[in-house]
Amino acid sequence: MSPVTTAPTVDVHLETDWARRSLIADVRRGLGNRPLRIPPQWLYDERGSELFDLITRLPEYYATEAERSILQQQAATIAELTDADTIIELGSGTSDKTHTLLRAFTSTGQLRRFIPFDVSEATLREAATTLARDYPGLLVHGVVGDFHQHLTHLPSDGVPMVAFLGSTIGNLDHEERQAFLSVLFDQLGSGAWLLLGVDLVKPVDRLVDAYHDPQGITAEFIRNVLHVLNRELHADFDVESFDHVAMWDPLHERMDLRLRANGDHLVHVRDAELEVEVLDGEEIHVEISTKFRISTISTEIDHAGFQVRQVWTDPPGDVALLLAARP
Ligand code: SAH
Ligand code: AVI
Repeated sequence: MSPVTTAPTVDVHLETDWARRSLIADVRRGLGNRPLRIPPQWLYDERGSELFDLITRLPEYYATEAERSILQQQAATIAELTDADTIIELGSGTSDKTHTLLRAFTSTGQLRRFIPFDVSEATLREAATTLARDYPGLLVHGVVGDFHQHLTHLPSDGVPMVAFLGSTIGNLDHEERQAFLSVLFDQLGSGAWLLLGVDLVKPVDRLVDAYHDPQGITAEFIRNVLHVLNRELHADFDVESFDHVAMWDPLHERMDLRLRANGDHLVHVRDAELEVEVLDGEEIHVEISTKFRISTISTEIDHAGFQVRQVWTDPPGDVALLLAARP
């Protein structure tokens, strides 16, 4: 008899308007102070998730394929080393690369549950439906939430492996990473695992090409956050009057992605009861993308209490995958 497909469940444990209330708070804080900021999780409405997907296919954006190649090489070893019965994927998006892990973990018969966790509900629901169809018998239990606030909503029973792929951890600054890793450590029981994908430091021209692609897809992705504010909070940003700026910050070893105003703008964000004067040339900070050295990210992981057990890189050394145990 073939295994039965179990319908996926998606939990939104949060109050129905949590996302809106969080967005308003972030906008009041971020656009009510200097420098102007909009946190990067608001990039990912349906259009933003589609644009990110297009970015992963750009020839200049090496990171996704490089990480996929490591996963293809090492998935069976990871399944064997961890013996995990649950995979929790943070910032799961479409979970496209995760199929490599799911195939390896289901082929040994060890995997019981897959828990994708993402702030973008529409993308999460679509991915959960595809995964439940592709892996009959696997319990697919999506959780909608913000990994800065809602990690305590994750289950801690069984032997979980938390996969945090694609160097999304690089979109957090040093303090945010420390807070995130500590909360994750406290949430997970002894015997759990962390599989972390990071982008490595490399020549600046390659990084600038990856974050300022000639087709302008990354520019559209970053500008999309202004469309999100216009739609969700009745703001009146003149989106096309903001230029995408992608620069290397050598001190923090990270790309810094901003929107620079062309001309003076008086912007109203009606639902946040905010009026912002943006001057010609002024920048809104939208996203950082940290590039790591294996020694420094290993220290950050150790500092939170995990123990790094294995590190793999792709042959050119563009990205790394670290497997750490929660003792
Ligand atoms: N893991 C995938 C997708 C990376 S894109 C990959 O490796 O390709 C980043 C994903 O993280 C998006 O799906 C976005 O919605 C999600 N995300 C960003 N900030 C988040 C936050 N604060 N909490 C939860 N998910 C977040
Ligand atoms: C999701 N995150 C790891 C991507 C990155 O590379 O920092 C987001 C991105 N921003 C611009 N291009 C891709």
